[in-house]
Amino acid sequence: MDPRPIGVFDSGMGGLTVLHECLVTLPHEDFVYLGDGARLPYGPRPLAEIRRFAREIAGYLERQGVKLIVAACNSATAAALPDLQRSLSVPIVGVLAPEAHAAVLATRNRRIGLLATEATVASGRYAELVGALDAGAELVPVACPRLVPLIEGSDPFGEETADAVREYAAPLRDAGVDTVILGCTHYPLIRPIFQRVFGRGVTLVFSADETACEVAETLARKGIENDGSREGAYRFLTTGDPALFREMGRRFLQLPIASAEHVEVATLEAAAA
Ligand code: DGL
Repeated sequence: MDPRPIGVFDSGMGGLTVLHECLVTLPHEDFVYLGDGARLPYGPRPLAEIRRFAREIAGYLERQGVKLIVAACNSATAAALPDLQRSLSVPIVGVLAPEAHAAVLATRNRRIGLLATEATVASGRYAELVGALDAGAELVPVACPRLVPLIEGSDPFGEETADAVREYAAPLRDAGVDTVILGCTHYPLIRPIFQRVFGRGVTLVFSADETACEVAETLARKGIENDGSREGAYRFLTTGDPALFREMGRRFLQLPIASAEHVEVATLEAAAA
Protein backbone atom coordinates (compact mmCIF):
# COMPACT_ATOMS: atom_id res chain seq x y z
CA MET A 1 0.00 0.00 0.00
CA ASP A 2 1.28 3.49 -0.87
CA PRO A 3 -0.55 6.55 0.54
CA ARG A 4 1.34 9.17 -1.51
CA PRO A 5 -0.78 11.28 -3.91
CA ILE A 6 -0.71 11.17 -7.71
CA GLY A 7 0.39 14.39 -9.47
CA VAL A 8 -1.49 15.54 -12.59
CA PHE A 9 -0.54 18.57 -14.68
CA ASP A 10 -1.73 20.51 -17.70
CA SER A 11 -1.24 23.91 -19.29
CA GLY A 12 -4.61 24.92 -17.81
CA MET A 13 -8.02 23.36 -17.31
CA GLY A 14 -8.10 20.73 -20.09
CA GLY A 15 -6.27 18.15 -17.99
CA LEU A 16 -9.24 18.22 -15.61
CA THR A 17 -11.02 15.96 -18.13
CA VAL A 18 -8.25 13.41 -17.47
CA LEU A 19 -8.43 14.02 -13.71
CA HIS A 20 -12.20 13.46 -13.91
CA GLU A 21 -11.68 9.96 -15.33
CA CYS A 22 -8.91 9.24 -12.79
CA LEU A 23 -11.16 10.30 -9.88
CA VAL A 24 -13.96 8.07 -11.15
CA THR A 25 -11.68 5.11 -11.89
CA LEU A 26 -9.54 5.45 -8.74
CA PRO A 27 -11.81 7.00 -6.06
CA HIS A 28 -9.54 5.75 -3.25
CA GLU A 29 -6.40 7.60 -4.47
CA ASP A 30 -5.33 11.16 -3.52
CA PHE A 31 -4.53 13.61 -6.32
CA VAL A 32 -2.81 16.98 -6.66
CA TYR A 33 -3.52 18.82 -9.92
CA LEU A 34 -1.37 21.69 -11.24
CA GLY A 35 -2.68 23.93 -14.04
CA ASP A 36 -0.16 26.33 -15.61
CA GLY A 37 -2.80 29.00 -16.37
CA ALA A 38 -0.23 31.84 -16.40
CA ARG A 39 1.50 30.30 -19.44
CA LEU A 40 -1.57 28.86 -21.25
CA PRO A 41 -1.81 28.08 -24.15
CA TYR A 42 1.09 25.72 -24.79
CA GLY A 43 -0.19 24.69 -28.24
CA PRO A 44 1.27 27.58 -30.31
CA ARG A 45 4.66 27.55 -28.48
CA PRO A 46 7.92 25.99 -29.70
CA LEU A 47 8.47 22.39 -28.52
CA ALA A 48 11.67 23.31 -26.62
CA GLU A 49 9.81 25.89 -24.53
CA ILE A 50 6.98 23.44 -23.70
CA ARG A 51 9.63 20.86 -22.75
CA ARG A 52 11.17 23.35 -20.28
CA PHE A 53 7.76 24.13 -18.70
CA ALA A 54 6.96 20.40 -18.36
CA ARG A 55 10.36 19.74 -16.73
CA GLU A 56 9.74 22.51 -14.19
CA ILE A 57 6.24 21.30 -13.28
CA ALA A 58 7.14 17.61 -13.09
CA GLY A 59 10.19 18.45 -10.93
CA TYR A 60 8.00 20.53 -8.63
CA LEU A 61 5.42 17.74 -8.26
CA GLU A 62 8.14 15.19 -7.59
CA ARG A 63 9.42 17.38 -4.74
CA GLN A 64 5.87 17.50 -3.36
CA GLY A 65 6.20 13.73 -2.82
CA VAL A 66 3.90 12.29 -5.49
CA LYS A 67 4.21 8.58 -6.39
CA LEU A 68 3.29 8.91 -10.08
CA ILE A 69 2.83 11.83 -12.48
CA VAL A 70 0.23 12.13 -15.23
CA ALA A 71 1.16 14.56 -18.02
CA ALA A 72 -2.51 15.39 -18.74
CA CYS A 73 -1.66 17.62 -21.70
CA ASN A 74 -1.12 16.33 -25.21
CA SER A 75 1.21 19.21 -26.13
CA ALA A 76 3.41 18.62 -23.05
CA THR A 77 3.42 14.85 -23.59
CA ALA A 78 4.33 15.30 -27.26
CA ALA A 79 7.15 17.72 -26.43
CA ALA A 80 8.58 16.25 -23.24
CA LEU A 81 7.62 12.66 -22.32
CA PRO A 82 10.92 10.89 -23.22
CA ASP A 83 12.85 13.69 -21.50
CA LEU A 84 10.73 13.37 -18.34
CA GLN A 85 10.98 9.57 -18.33
CA ARG A 86 14.77 9.98 -18.23
CA SER A 87 14.92 12.69 -15.55
CA LEU A 88 12.20 11.64 -13.05
CA SER A 89 12.53 8.95 -10.41
CA VAL A 90 8.74 8.34 -10.25
CA PRO A 91 6.76 6.77 -13.14
CA ILE A 92 5.12 9.18 -15.57
CA VAL A 93 2.07 8.44 -17.73
CA GLY A 94 1.41 10.56 -20.83
CA VAL A 95 -1.75 10.91 -22.90
CA LEU A 96 -0.47 10.02 -26.38
CA ALA A 97 0.37 6.32 -26.20
CA PRO A 98 -3.00 5.22 -24.71
CA GLU A 99 -4.82 7.09 -27.50
CA ALA A 100 -2.60 5.80 -30.30
CA HIS A 101 -3.14 2.27 -28.99
CA ALA A 102 -6.93 2.70 -28.78
CA ALA A 103 -7.07 4.20 -32.30
CA VAL A 104 -5.08 1.34 -33.87
CA LEU A 105 -7.38 -1.17 -32.16
CA ALA A 106 -10.53 0.69 -33.29
CA THR A 107 -9.80 1.39 -36.96
CA ARG A 108 -11.12 -1.01 -39.60
CA ASN A 109 -9.82 0.74 -42.74
CA ARG A 110 -6.47 1.72 -41.09
CA ARG A 111 -7.00 5.42 -41.84
CA ILE A 112 -6.81 7.43 -38.62
CA GLY A 113 -7.38 11.18 -38.27
CA LEU A 114 -5.74 13.37 -35.63
CA LEU A 115 -7.08 16.71 -34.36
CA ALA A 116 -4.67 18.44 -31.96
CA THR A 117 -2.72 21.62 -31.20
CA GLU A 118 -0.01 22.93 -33.51
CA ALA A 119 2.73 21.73 -31.12
CA THR A 120 1.32 18.20 -30.93
CA VAL A 121 1.02 17.96 -34.72
CA ALA A 122 4.51 19.47 -35.24
CA SER A 123 6.09 16.92 -32.88
CA GLY A 124 5.15 14.02 -35.18
CA ARG A 125 4.81 11.80 -32.07
CA TYR A 126 1.40 10.35 -32.94
CA ALA A 127 2.64 9.22 -36.35
CA GLU A 128 5.60 7.48 -34.64
CA LEU A 129 3.37 5.78 -32.06
CA VAL A 130 0.74 4.65 -34.57
CA GLY A 131 3.52 3.47 -36.94
CA ALA A 132 5.16 1.43 -34.16
CA LEU A 133 1.86 -0.40 -33.54
CA ASP A 134 0.80 -0.81 -37.19
CA ALA A 135 3.28 0.27 -39.85
CA GLY A 136 0.50 -0.04 -42.46
CA ALA A 137 -1.85 2.44 -40.78
CA GLU A 138 -2.07 5.97 -42.18
CA LEU A 139 -2.32 9.00 -39.88
CA VAL A 140 -3.87 12.23 -41.22
CA PRO A 141 -3.05 15.12 -38.81
CA VAL A 142 -4.85 18.50 -38.67
CA ALA A 143 -3.76 21.32 -36.32
CA CYS A 144 -6.72 23.16 -34.72
CA PRO A 145 -5.46 26.48 -33.30
CA ARG A 146 -8.96 27.98 -32.89
CA LEU A 147 -10.45 25.30 -30.67
CA VAL A 148 -8.73 25.79 -27.28
CA PRO A 149 -9.54 29.55 -27.06
CA LEU A 150 -13.16 28.84 -28.06
CA ILE A 151 -13.52 26.03 -25.49
CA GLU A 152 -12.03 28.21 -22.72
CA GLY A 153 -14.12 31.19 -23.90
CA SER A 154 -17.60 32.38 -22.92
CA ASP A 155 -19.56 30.29 -25.46
CA PRO A 156 -17.89 26.87 -25.93
CA PHE A 157 -21.04 25.30 -27.41
CA GLY A 158 -21.77 28.16 -29.83
CA GLU A 159 -22.00 28.33 -33.62
CA GLU A 160 -18.38 29.54 -33.92
CA THR A 161 -17.12 26.35 -32.26
CA ALA A 162 -19.33 24.20 -34.51
CA ASP A 163 -18.00 26.08 -37.59
CA ALA A 164 -14.39 25.55 -36.49
CA VAL A 165 -14.99 21.82 -35.94
CA ARG A 166 -16.62 21.53 -39.41
CA GLU A 167 -13.58 23.27 -40.96
CA TYR A 168 -11.01 21.05 -39.20
CA ALA A 169 -13.03 17.88 -39.84
CA ALA A 170 -13.32 18.48 -43.61
CA PRO A 171 -9.84 17.16 -44.62
CA LEU A 172 -10.35 14.08 -42.44
CA ARG A 173 -13.73 13.33 -43.99
CA ASP A 174 -12.17 13.78 -47.47
CA ALA A 175 -9.41 11.31 -46.50
CA GLY A 176 -12.06 8.73 -45.49
CA VAL A 177 -10.81 8.13 -41.95
CA ASP A 178 -12.98 5.84 -39.81
CA THR A 179 -11.32 6.76 -36.49
CA VAL A 180 -10.34 10.19 -35.15
CA ILE A 181 -7.96 10.83 -32.25
CA LEU A 182 -9.11 13.93 -30.37
CA GLY A 183 -5.56 14.67 -29.30
CA CYS A 184 -6.09 17.55 -26.89
CA THR A 185 -7.37 17.39 -23.33
CA HIS A 186 -9.85 20.23 -23.98
CA TYR A 187 -11.79 18.41 -26.68
CA PRO A 188 -13.93 16.01 -24.58
CA LEU A 189 -15.86 19.06 -23.43
CA ILE A 190 -17.35 19.49 -26.91
CA ARG A 191 -17.72 15.79 -27.67
CA PRO A 192 -21.33 16.11 -29.03
CA ILE A 193 -20.19 18.70 -31.61
CA PHE A 194 -17.46 16.35 -32.90
CA GLN A 195 -19.77 13.34 -32.94
CA ARG A 196 -22.49 15.21 -34.86
CA VAL A 197 -20.01 16.53 -37.45
CA PHE A 198 -18.31 13.15 -38.02
CA GLY A 199 -21.42 10.97 -37.60
CA ARG A 200 -21.78 7.72 -35.70
CA GLY A 201 -19.77 5.82 -38.32
CA VAL A 202 -16.53 7.41 -37.12
CA THR A 203 -14.99 6.26 -33.82
CA LEU A 204 -13.74 9.12 -31.65
CA VAL A 205 -10.80 8.36 -29.37
CA PHE A 206 -10.22 10.54 -26.29
CA SER A 207 -7.24 10.54 -23.97
CA ALA A 208 -9.11 10.79 -20.67
CA ASP A 209 -10.58 7.31 -20.21
CA GLU A 210 -7.67 5.55 -21.93
CA THR A 211 -5.16 7.37 -19.71
CA ALA A 212 -7.06 6.64 -16.48
CA CYS A 213 -6.93 2.92 -17.37
CA GLU A 214 -3.17 3.17 -17.88
CA VAL A 215 -2.72 4.93 -14.53
CA ALA A 216 -4.75 2.20 -12.76
CA GLU A 217 -2.74 -0.53 -14.45
CA THR A 218 0.60 1.15 -13.64
CA LEU A 219 -0.29 1.47 -9.93
CA ALA A 220 -1.45 -2.15 -9.77
CA ARG A 221 1.56 -3.61 -11.58
CA LYS A 222 4.04 -1.62 -9.50
CA GLY A 223 2.17 -2.42 -6.26
CA ILE A 224 1.82 1.25 -5.30
CA GLU A 225 -1.97 1.50 -4.90
CA ASN A 226 -3.60 3.17 -1.90
CA ASP A 227 -6.02 1.39 0.45
CA GLY A 228 -9.04 0.50 -1.71
CA SER A 229 -11.55 0.96 1.15
CA ARG A 230 -10.93 4.70 1.68
CA GLU A 231 -12.22 7.77 -0.23
CA GLY A 232 -9.38 9.84 -1.62
CA ALA A 233 -8.93 13.62 -1.51
CA TYR A 234 -7.95 15.94 -4.35
CA ARG A 235 -6.55 19.48 -4.43
CA PHE A 236 -5.60 22.10 -6.98
CA LEU A 237 -2.67 24.42 -7.70
CA THR A 238 -2.63 27.04 -10.43
CA THR A 239 -0.12 29.59 -11.69
CA GLY A 240 -3.13 31.61 -12.88
CA ASP A 241 -6.08 33.14 -11.03
CA PRO A 242 -7.42 30.71 -8.36
CA ALA A 243 -10.98 32.17 -8.49
CA LEU A 244 -11.14 31.75 -12.27
CA PHE A 245 -9.72 28.23 -11.95
CA ARG A 246 -12.41 27.26 -9.44
CA GLU A 247 -15.20 28.74 -11.53
CA MET A 248 -14.16 27.51 -14.98
CA GLY A 249 -12.61 24.29 -13.68
CA ARG A 250 -16.03 22.90 -12.76
CA ARG A 251 -16.97 22.94 -16.45
CA PHE A 252 -14.13 20.52 -17.15
CA LEU A 253 -14.07 18.46 -13.95
CA GLN A 254 -17.83 18.09 -13.42
CA LEU A 255 -17.06 17.46 -9.75
CA PRO A 256 -16.74 19.92 -6.83
CA ILE A 257 -13.68 22.20 -6.64
CA ALA A 258 -13.56 23.59 -3.09
CA SER A 259 -10.54 25.84 -3.61
CA ALA A 260 -7.39 26.36 -5.65
CA GLU A 261 -4.02 27.56 -4.34
CA HIS A 262 -1.82 29.95 -6.27
CA VAL A 263 1.74 28.91 -7.09
CA GLU A 264 4.25 31.32 -8.62
CA VAL A 265 5.87 30.51 -11.97
CA ALA A 266 9.19 31.41 -10.28
CA THR A 267 8.62 28.58 -7.77
CA LEU A 268 8.25 26.14 -10.65
CA GLU A 269 11.34 27.52 -12.39
CA ALA A 270 13.31 27.02 -9.17
CA ALA A 271 12.21 23.34 -9.04
CA ALA A 272 13.97 22.67 -12.35
CA ALA A 273 17.18 24.48 -11.33
N1 DGL B 1 -3.79 21.07 -22.81
C1 DGL B 1 -3.31 21.31 -24.15
C2 DGL B 1 -3.21 19.98 -24.91
O1 DGL B 1 -3.77 18.99 -24.50
C3 DGL B 1 -4.19 22.26 -24.93
C4 DGL B 1 -4.18 23.67 -24.41
C5 DGL B 1 -2.94 24.43 -24.74
O2 DGL B 1 -2.72 24.77 -25.93
O3 DGL B 1 -2.22 24.72 -23.81
O4 DGL B 1 -2.59 19.95 -25.94
